[in-house]
Amino acid sequence: MHAQSIGILGLGAYLPEKVLTNFDLEKIVDTTDEWIRTRTGIHERRVSEKGIATSDLASKASLEALQNANLKPEDLDLIICATITPDTLFPSTACYIQNKIGAKCPGFDISAACSGFPYALTIANGLVKSGMYKKILVIGAEVLSNFINWKDRSTCVLFGDGAGAAIIGEVNNGHGIIATYLGADGAQTEILKIPGGGSAIPLTVETLEAGKQYVYMEGKEVFKLAVRSMCDAIEKVVELGGLRIEDIDCLIPHQANIRILDAVTDRAGIPSEKVFINVNRYGNMSAASTPVALYEAVKQGMIKKGSNVVLVAFGSGLTWAACLIKW
Ligand code: COA
Repeated sequence: MHAQSIGILGLGAYLPEKVLTNFDLEKIVDTTDEWIRTRTGIHERRVSEKGIATSDLASKASLEALQNANLKPEDLDLIICATITPDTLFPSTACYIQNKIGAKCPGFDISAACSGFPYALTIANGLVKSGMYKKILVIGAEVLSNFINWKDRSTCVLFGDGAGAAIIGEVNNGHGIIATYLGADGAQTEILKIPGGGSAIPLTVETLEAGKQYVYMEGKEVFKLAVRSMCDAIEKVVELGGLRIEDIDCLIPHQANIRILDAVTDRAGIPSEKVFINVNRYGNMSAASTPVALYEAVKQGMIKKGSNVVLVAFGSGLTWAACLIKW
């Protein structure tokens, strides 16, 4: 008997309508459109209206993914939400999403920052393969605009809000998730984090005044490690899947910075026409970046039936991850 293949049954995405351009940012901090474009490749990003939470964006993306998979919320067996900007420390954002979309199944969040979506996909793949669940909703969603210091020009220009979702289940044999690879280096926890608001540094008037509730980043160090870890993840997942780099038809990388993506694809030997880019329009949406990019690459016809797709990401932790999918 052939083992059944596990893959993506439907995709969805949601981006807030409000666009914040580099020119808008020129009015908020001491920066220029030229600096942001040349250092990052970002032209604009989306930001949520006041009062909108991560579960709001996630629910919209999830309902579209369900529709594209021809499924109803009650068909779901599990919800896994990857996010670093949860609605609340607890309960999980997955529980808010369950209620908002009208599902009845269990759910939980995972924290792997920008690598969250391929991490969650790996968990879902294992759970469906084991026979425990049949249909799993996997989401990457963020409202980063609520965790950014809008007075810090070195970070506020980089991030945006958004959500992407995928339904994981059994697909035709020979298609679906071929291999997954996860990595982490806990020695690098200090270079990219939100220091306050957890048990280590609870929020007090003093920690709030010191800005501990906001994203902190050592940009240059992150840059170096990002290139190294993404190249490693691409090589490993392709090897695990028994393919060669030349066999990759489409690379869906985490969209942090165009210079990082150029360095990765250059070093990995992947031609730029095979690499999907939308960092110019959305900035870095952390866990939402890879599912939104995957959604758009499929929609634009860059991914076709039979395409070998590699999803690759890196992020705070540090964490890194890759999934090889035969479409
Ligand atoms: N506008 C104008 N100037 C800015 C600026 C901005 N928005 N942000 C920083 N600068 C200034 C700095 O203050 C610095 O000035 P100084 O030399 O007088 O001190 C100068 O620009 C150069 O900064 P530097 O840090 O050398 O720039 P860089 O080439 O390393 O680019 C990043 C900065 C953040 C774009 C880059 O390091 C990066 O992309 N890192 C990875 C970030 C990332 O991917 N994070 C997410 C991981 S998931």
